[in-house]
Amino acid sequence: MIAILGAMQEEITPILQMIGEYETTEFANNKFYTAKIGNNYVVVAYSKIGKVNSALTTSILVQKFGAKKLLFTGVAGSLNENLHIGDILYATSLVQHDLDITAFGHPHGFVPGIEIFSRTDQSLNELAQKVAQKQGIKLIGGVIATGDQFVCDKNKKEWIKNTFNADAVEMEGGSVAQVCTQLNVPFFMLRAISDEAGGGADVDFDEFLNSSANISAKFVIEMVKAL
Ligand code: ADE
Repeated sequence: MIAILGAMQEEITPILQMIGEYETTEFANNKFYTAKIGNNYVVVAYSKIGKVNSALTTSILVQKFGAKKLLFTGVAGSLNENLHIGDILYATSLVQHDLDITAFGHPHGFVPGIEIFSRTDQSLNELAQKVAQKQGIKLIGGVIATGDQFVCDKNKKEWIKNTFNADAVEMEGGSVAQVCTQLNVPFFMLRAISDEAGGGADVDFDEFLNSSANISAKFVIEMVKAL
C-alpha cells in the first residue's frame, strides 16, 4: 500500500480525479480513499492544515491502512529566488522552524530525541529525478521548513531562510517526516510553489493554489505509476 497525502482538499482533488474510481473509508473525522493505480494499491487522504493534523493522518495511513511508502503532494511558499510560482521541488530534508527551546541553549528546530533535519528517502528522490528528466520538467531538491504559520512577511521569510538554509516553507512536511522517520516508512515530499512567502503571499496563494496543487499532483501520480 502506497499513501498519497495532501494537506488540503485542493491538493488531492486532482489525484482523485485522475484515479476516477475509489472506495471511501471514514475514520477519525476524516476520509480515506483507496484504489489501484497500475500494480499498486494506494490510499489517498488530505490531513487538514498544520503539523498536528498531518502527524495524525500520517500515523493513521501507516498504522491503520498499512502504508509502506508515503508520497506527499501540495504547495509551498518559496524562500529561494530561483524557485518561482508553478515550479516544483522535493525535500531532501525537512525541519520544524517553529520548534523552539532555544531558552535552554538548544538550536532552533531541536528537541531531545529527534534530529533537527529529517532526511527523505534517497531512492524515491532518485525516482523523482528520473520521472522529471523523462518529462523534461525542472525539478530541484532542497530544504523545506515547516511550521504552524502561513508565512506572509519579508522578515519572517528571511529568518527561516537564513536560520535553516531552507528553500521553501509550508505547514505539514516536517511533522509528516517526523512520524515517517519514527515508524520507519520511506517518504517523499513534493511541493509546487504557490507564493513567495513575503508580503502579498496570501493573495498569490489564493490565486495559484489550484494550479500549483495540480502540477504537484500530476507529478506524484507519474511517480506512483513508475514505482
Ligand atoms: N504553503 C504555501 N505557501 C505557504 C506560506 N507562505 N507559508 C506557509 N505555508 C505555505
